[in-house]
Amino acid sequence: MGSTFYVTTPIYYVNDEPHIGTAYTTVAADVLARYHRSKGEQVFFLTGTDEHGQHVANAAERNAVEPREWADRMVVKFIDVWKRLNISNDHFIRTTSEEHGRVSQDFVQKLYERGDIYLGMYEGWYCVPDESFWLPSQLVDGKCPQCGRDVELIKEENYFFKLSKYQDRLLEHINAHPDFILPEIRRNEVMSFIQQGLADQSISRKTLTWGIPLPFDPGQVLYVWFDALLNYISASGYGLQPELFARLWPANWHLIGKEILRFHAVIWPAMLMAAGLPLPEHVFAHGWLTVEGEKMSKSKGNAISPHVLLDEVSVDAYRYYFMREFSFGTDGNFSRATLRSRYNSELANDLGNLVSRVLAMVDRYRGGLVPAAPVEPGDDALDALDAALLAAAADCPPEVDQRFAALEFNNALQAIWNFVGAANRYVDQSAPWDLNKDPALASRLDAVLYNQVEALRIIGLLILPFMPETAEKMWDQLGQDSDIYQQHLPAAAAWGQMPAGTKVRRGAGLFPRLELEE
Ligand code: MSP
Repeated sequence: MGSTFYVTTPIYYVNDEPHIGTAYTTVAADVLARYHRSKGEQVFFLTGTDEHGQHVANAAERNAVEPREWADRMVVKFIDVWKRLNISNDHFIRTTSEEHGRVSQDFVQKLYERGDIYLGMYEGWYCVPDESFWLPSQLVDGKCPQCGRDVELIKEENYFFKLSKYQDRLLEHINAHPDFILPEIRRNEVMSFIQQGLADQSISRKTLTWGIPLPFDPGQVLYVWFDALLNYISASGYGLQPELFARLWPANWHLIGKEILRFHAVIWPAMLMAAGLPLPEHVFAHGWLTVEGEKMSKSKGNAISPHVLLDEVSVDAYRYYFMREFSFGTDGNFSRATLRSRYNSELANDLGNLVSRVLAMVDRYRGGLVPAAPVEPGDDALDALDAALLAAAADCPPEVDQRFAALEFNNALQAIWNFVGAANRYVDQSAPWDLNKDPALASRLDAVLYNQVEALRIIGLLILPFMPETAEKMWDQLGQDSDIYQQHLPAAAAWGQMPAGTKVRRGAGLFPRLELEE
């Protein structure tokens, strides 16, 4: 394994604008990348755009511009929306870049020289929106079995990749690495697909000019999927920067939507085997989002741009909602009602109020200075209430870590919110407002306030990958002058590191309540 944690999203077609479905994968990858950075790891997080192929060429033609100009125009929309969503990708690959073209040509040349590519006749069907080849027997009612749209008949001389040759090795690899394809249901699908027998794969197009020319036959361009999959290695230095490549490859996680699993779990690993390269550690196929119960599509006009939601709620609320509401492996349904109700109950009430209540009490009872805690964790003198809070604080980070290892983003947040709940109960039960009435209880009030602030410090660190702006604000409000990005888990989340005497800086509420519409 390379020494760097390497996570990817699919590269998105530039025929269409980004919507909340495409943003879903990218936000998840960002949260994962940020979590690994917060553990002090080196991270390489890659996203980008898929700019070749018939579908993009058609979109350009409809708009009466050259494909390249079309791509240049559309890519900005992706870059802008990722910026607004606070996506921390380390690199952005465009498949029209010079490097990507060069690497793709070298790669395909290598496979050609190794005898894994041959010239043949392709006769069959092609789905342009999905950019996929289908045999007559695979069509469903004469339509694309994947998306249900019309297919085109193609008969042309194409180059083929000997995919069938890798059938047994693929099965062996999947058997030997049970967590190569996740979730398990997707792994089973791939296994049974391979077991039915793999046909060789057409990897070039003769009738299309918008693509990477084959080095051994410039009259043909590389099939867009072959070129697209190579982004994962062309962006990480394959062939051009060997040291970088050795550090990055193989990728730890390819995050994709379930509809492009076969490309990633069958064709891609076979391509890598043919080139003698190691396979990625995990391919995770997540579910699809519908909007108010319906599939998002251009024709229905119901695709929602992230910008629309970002005009309604903050970027952190957006990120929180998509990671909390859906289980990453299964389909889910977006609705404004659930977005708004989670916002008000979990962000405004549970977290936002907790922060403002605690800081207000430190201000009111101790002039804004965090008192010293009279007892240490583990002391016999520890009150039962305190012990419960400290136990919740100790249990949370390892649970979050386990949830991240399985890409259970929703359960990681659930674990953090269990701790937020414990902190809220602690505030209610320790009742600082009563303690404040009796000067004899001053040292108990000190302890209680310290524990509340310390719980907030740990919560701030744990929410950082999901809600970086909120975590930064909390860090500042807690009077921390250090850089939150230099605090590394798990050590930084161990109890008791808030220095006594820290001056808190109360700020604006983190999540102002949304007025719920009737
Ligand atoms: N260009 C190919 C991918 C090449 S990767 C080497 C492609 N692009 S795409 O623009 O169609 O984006 C597909 C990806 O967007 C899906 O795999 C998925 O990650 C995401 N989604 C698109 N619509 C989605 C939903 N409705 N719901 C969830 N994710 C969706 O395929």
